[in-house]
Amino acid sequence: MLVNSKEILLDAKRNQYAVPHFNINNLEWTKYILEEMESLQKPVILGVSEGAAKYMGGFLTVSNMVKGLLHDLNITIPVCLHVDHGTSFETCKCAIDAGFTSVMIDASKHPLEENIEITKKVVDYAHKRGVSVEAEIGHIGGTEDNITSSTTNARLDECIRLVEETNIDSLAPALGSVHGLYKGEPNLDFKTMKEISENLSVPLVLHGGTGIPDYQIKEAISCGINKININTELQIAWHDKVKKYINATEAYDPRKIISSGEKAIKEKVKEKTEMFMNL
Ligand code: 13P
Repeated sequence: MLVNSKEILLDAKRNQYAVPHFNINNLEWTKYILEEMESLQKPVILGVSEGAAKYMGGFLTVSNMVKGLLHDLNITIPVCLHVDHGTSFETCKCAIDAGFTSVMIDASKHPLEENIEITKKVVDYAHKRGVSVEAEIGHIGGTEDNITSSTTNARLDECIRLVEETNIDSLAPALGSVHGLYKGEPNLDFKTMKEISENLSVPLVLHGGTGIPDYQIKEAISCGINKININTELQIAWHDKVKKYINATEAYDPRKIISSGEKAIKEKVKEKTEMFMNL
């Protein structure tokens, strides 16, 4: 069942756990994630970056692909189809019109006033159509979709303004996490995370979930994180297996090559979900 993120994240907030957000790259990844989450009987958020949407053909292709899989695989769990780091109102509108149930508007590179203005425009369009909205404040750096940027941490007063003036459903405050691989141990600002969570009623989102040690994930959840985004870790798990398979066989059927990483993706999805949801 396709749902927006509002109810599943509020349940996570009430019961102190995090819903997994896994980025999807193609048909096979989407299928593996859905099958594994169905066997766990837990909700999932499928994240689609602008780059991934373009790679797969566009938002309408992705939306129809996901709807087709939900039907053909008899998926019964709540599934949220979410734009990851939408950079403009136009991107978010295009995804919403194509059937996405949730969008992230990432106007974090703009000054606060502009971030508020753009985010509010997205919220007004999205809420009328039953679509939930996540926004970012501060800036989460690292490398994503082959773009590298540096981090600026979020401030409590700015988080309060963004949430109160836009009516977003969830907030991703930059607090030291980065997209892609960490150089050394991640240095998350748990104190500010807790303060933001205690001062706001919206669930908080942790980007850059790859490479954050389990004990820090647990701490983040206890400080109010209710959605955790994972992308790179699934890519690496899949790549390691596929590389071995290609080196060890003469296979040329793309179905065999791509699916040689199926088990690795499913194991990662299970491991992360069990940790995020205290299973
Ligand atoms: P990682 O690639 O570091 O797991 O981050 C994913 C993410 O935050 C997507 O928005």
